[in-house]
Amino acid sequence: MSAEPPGPWPGDVTRSAGDLAIETRGLTKRFGHQAAVDQIDLAVPRGSVFGFLGPNGSGKTTTIRMLLGLASASSGQIRVLGSEMPSEFHDVLPRVGALVEGPAFYPFLSGAANLHRLDTADRQAPSATRDARVAESLERVGLAHAAGKRVGAYSLGMKQRLGIANAILRPRELLMLDEPTNGLDPQGTREVRSLIRSLSGDGTTVFVSSHLLAEIEQICTHAAVMSTGRLVAQGTIDQLRSRGETRVRVRTPDLPSARVVLGSLGLSVDEVARERGEQIRSGEDEFVTAAVGVLDVRAEDIVAALVAGGVRVRGFVVDEGSLEDQFVALTGEGFDVAG
Ligand SMILES: Nc1ncnc2c1ncn2[C@@H]1O[C@H](COP(=O)(O)OP(=O)(O)OP(=O)(O)O)[C@@H](O)[C@H]1O
Ligand SMILES: [Mg+2]
Repeated sequence: MSAEPPGPWPGDVTRSAGDLAIETRGLTKRFGHQAAVDQIDLAVPRGSVFGFLGPNGSGKTTTIRMLLGLASASSGQIRVLGSEMPSEFHDVLPRVGALVEGPAFYPFLSGAANLHRLDTADRQAPSATRDARVAESLERVGLAHAAGKRVGAYSLGMKQRLGIANAILRPRELLMLDEPTNGLDPQGTREVRSLIRSLSGDGTTVFVSSHLLAEIEQICTHAAVMSTGRLVAQGTIDQLRSRGETRVRVRTPDLPSARVVLGSLGLSVDEVARERGEQIRSGEDEFVTAAVGVLDVRAEDIVAALVAGGVRVRGFVVDEGSLEDQFVALTGEGFDVAG
């Protein structure tokens, strides 16, 4: 899997533009000498809930700003909903709802009045149905009760929801939400997550950034992982998860023979740890951690081989790879990313 090398794009007329909501080639943004976004090839399938995952400063917001034409790219190409950005923004922007760094709301106006104002600015929004649109949008984000309240008196979470309400004022083919749960309490976070799910249920593609892995895992069908400006992996959540290694941990006082047996099964022993918090005496139990990786050795066969090899097995744990391990591995130091 990993960041799949896409086929040629420029001049390629055979490729159907219909299957990807967002596609970039070599997209790069430099600030001085620093590449905040470095040659990324994004491929966001239509209809997906696509998580754009990465630690602080990894380039998520910068990418989203380029996708929306709010910032210019240093190099590379962008296609959104089949059209080139930013040259064809007239075609693209009416079909895209966005929440990036919260729109500027007037604090002295109510939530409803602010949305009314923003909807008026949308030339393609029919005025006859404006009130209904605003009311429905506020209802969907759970702000109906605060529609008449001054935005200056809104909490951060309420402002965040008002930003989402603005993004969904009209039906959109694509929503780009930059960290939509930032600043929300657990209840607000749950509500926004279920809102995102319901939005995608209508067939809208949702591109949502987050530095929270659990969030992406809960709501997304696909994800891309950013690390210091580079796109280090993308695919379905299952594809990303299956990149992980299964590990076994063996607790034994017979370390040398355990190494031999595990080695004979093709498992690489990469860590030995003494039981924490206990005094180390010779012959003390020790943990051996072995990576199974792609080698498909069954746990019972490993135990049988250890026992047959005279290893006293006092503990045996199988750790399935988790998406979290992957995220740490992909964004951590020293990880050699192929592809
Ligand atoms: N206008 C700018 N001028 C100079 N450097 C910038 C500018 N905007 C962003 N950067 C730098 O680009 C890098 C990526 O920033 P970006 O805001 O895209 O990250 P992010 O993934 O959205 O982070 P966060 O999770 O904190 O929102 C950072 O090192 C940041 O300091
Ligand atoms: Mg950001």
